[in-house]
Amino acid sequence: MNFCSMAAAAASVLALANSATAVDASTSASTLRALGAQVGLRIGTAVTPLDLSDPTLLQITSDQFSVLTPENEMKWQVVEPQQGNFDWTGADNLVNFAEEHGERVRGHTLVWHNQLPSWLTQGVANGTISNSQLRDLLHQHITTEVSRYRGRIWQWDVVNEMLTDSNPSQVNPNDFWISHLGPGIIADAFRWARAADPHALLCYNDYNIAGEDGSNAKFNAALAMAQNLLAQNVPIDCVGDQGHLDLQFGFNPILMTQDLQTYAGLRVKVALTEVDVRTFVETTDSNQTPIVSRTDPTPNHTANPAAADWYTGMLQSCLTVKACVSFTVWGFDDAESWVPGTFKGEGDADLYDVNLNPKPQFTALQQTLSLSAGAPHRRGPNDNDDD
Ligand code: XIL
Repeated sequence: MNFCSMAAAAASVLALANSATAVDASTSASTLRALGAQVGLRIGTAVTPLDLSDPTLLQITSDQFSVLTPENEMKWQVVEPQQGNFDWTGADNLVNFAEEHGERVRGHTLVWHNQLPSWLTQGVANGTISNSQLRDLLHQHITTEVSRYRGRIWQWDVVNEMLTDSNPSQVNPNDFWISHLGPGIIADAFRWARAADPHALLCYNDYNIAGEDGSNAKFNAALAMAQNLLAQNVPIDCVGDQGHLDLQFGFNPILMTQDLQTYAGLRVKVALTEVDVRTFVETTDSNQTPIVSRTDPTPNHTANPAAADWYTGMLQSCLTVKACVSFTVWGFDDAESWVPGTFKGEGDADLYDVNLNPKPQFTALQQTLSLSAGAPHRRGPNDNDDD
């Protein structure tokens, strides 16, 4: 065999070896959901009603993702705007859409201090709702919502953001639910959810609980909470780390991997549930209004390599831990992101820009997922062989 034909043979072997993992950006095999499926990892996104009606957004929502989270549509404020008056439109649409497109659903969220209906918070504040009535209302809320979607929700965020940001961290005594009903309400919420749907994975969900704070303070508190619940036979099946990162703070993916692995050691599943990586962006005015709308001139979000790197780091942490069953981004495009409305002057947090072009953050996830299916082995029996 002359050199040319040897090279050709080697090239065809290599092409074969690579075919399982190569990313061809033009085919359906290169979608995030397809690449994740190679290792059984579901890739998800938070979804708004617009994502299910706008044709371009709808296409991305169904093509790229295999698990959907309603960004707001299952929160109490939305599903029961007036007491006894329910609106399940958004939640129903999402669950139906997901099923039609072979996607699963993460239910979000049952017990949280935010986005509660005003009839509830005002009733508590003015004393017309007593603590024992509040407890009954929460029980009823969990039972009604979880039963409605019984068998159709893969993971439920039963309890959301109950820990303090202090070091050490603890269950927040000033949390709306804890301050009125005591810490035992966490266990009760999980039990009530289990009674309403025996098969959904029931999760505790929070931010900075997988090492993002550097100190591991919140991780320690979340771990203690999970251990404590499990010791009482409370049905907690998973821990969700939100994964909202900000480039102005540090991030150590090795610590995240270790922390996810430690949760997994409790025999619970883990998930990255609300991933995004925000940073300060070019602004249009003195109010620091970020350029984030589709009608703005294309923003000069020079591809920030650190954002792609941190997305990759979180995905790698999840991929490394077998119990990490889903990796969900909190919306996929910068025009819809919650970041500019919440963090002054910040944006550029998502996978697609405001014109729905995939950013380096997107290709970084593709590349990492592709590689996770296995790099081709380079050595033959003779260590010096190339094939
Ligand atoms: C945010 C939504 O993205 C916004 O649209 C809404 O106005 C406020 O809530 N942690 C959570 C999510 O668990 O529910 C929050 O979602 C973001 C922080």
